Amino acid sequence: MLIFRDISTVQNHLNNLKINGKIIGFVPTMGALHDGHLSLIKQSLQKTDFTVVSIFVNPTQFDSHEDFNTYPSDTEKDIDLLKSISDEIILFNPASAELYSNDLKLDTFDFNGLDKFMEGEYRGHHFHGVATIVNKLFSIIKADYAYFGEKDFQQLRIIENLILEKKLSIKLIRCETIRSSEGLALSSRNNKLTFSSKKIATNLFKALNFAKEKIDTLSVNEIEKIITDSLSKISDIKLEYFVIADEENLRPIKKKQTQKCRAFIAAYISGVRLIDNIKLY
Ligand code: PAJ
Repeated sequence: MLIFRDISTVQNHLNNLKINGKIIGFVPTMGALHDGHLSLIKQSLQKTDFTVVSIFVNPTQFDSHEDFNTYPSDTEKDIDLLKSISDEIILFNPASAELYSNDLKLDTFDFNGLDKFMEGEYRGHHFHGVATIVNKLFSIIKADYAYFGEKDFQQLRIIENLILEKKLSIKLIRCETIRSSEGLALSSRNNKLTFSSKKIATNLFKALNFAKEKIDTLSVNEIEKIITDSLSKISDIKLEYFVIADEENLRPIKKKQTQKCRAFIAAYISGVRLIDNIKLY
């Protein structure tokens, strides 16, 4: 597996591949790779000739220094894992100075309202940080396809919007959420949970499934109230939001609708912030 740490060498290599007609897939990550990331990489490997995986813990998308400094990272382990999967993986693992020069400047974007609710409401500049880095990475890698997980559905919609607004030629492929056998959505942040906190965290998926079961028989308000009340009884869970929202514009809905909608949840489990969502319609 080839590993690149600077922009010019990865671009030279990719240019040669593109001149020879090779199709390039791209999977941006922040490392601490798990089966969720691997499912994106495997889908890319199936559809493209080479898959660029980036590992970069992007400082501008974190709310606090503490969260950034304690974000799980084990690049050597990630490299071994990627090597064991395929020779058609190209790893881009730049230093911060390579992508941000000397200042951590955020670009600003108009997300057409997609950032107004849920993560956008609770995490300040988060999506501007995500879009800043993804936009930079897209312009460096210039891949044909980019793979994003539905686990971070609001992020996925924001990147789809970015591609549209900037008229980028990359095509985004949506990839379904990979879960543990008990339903917990895989996440690098799960590394921060103890065994018992992981068990408690499965209540988030249970809440989402409850919404799916009841969407045809209860009102949106009733569903939200039952979920909020029942989660508030579990002392290790601090619910931030439970929202049913339109899948396209991500606006919370108050009346049942049969067009595409999803249930979204964010909560602290023993101090670790997790998010999840599932499709209702
Ligand atoms: P990270 O959390 O490492 O996730 C990288 C990609 O893996 C994202 O597209 C995310 O949605 C996907 N992913 C994570 N867990 C998943 C799961 N359980 N099932 C399916 N896909 C999953 O998301 C980021 O990094 C960053 O914000 C990034 C886009 C790299 C920009 O810094």
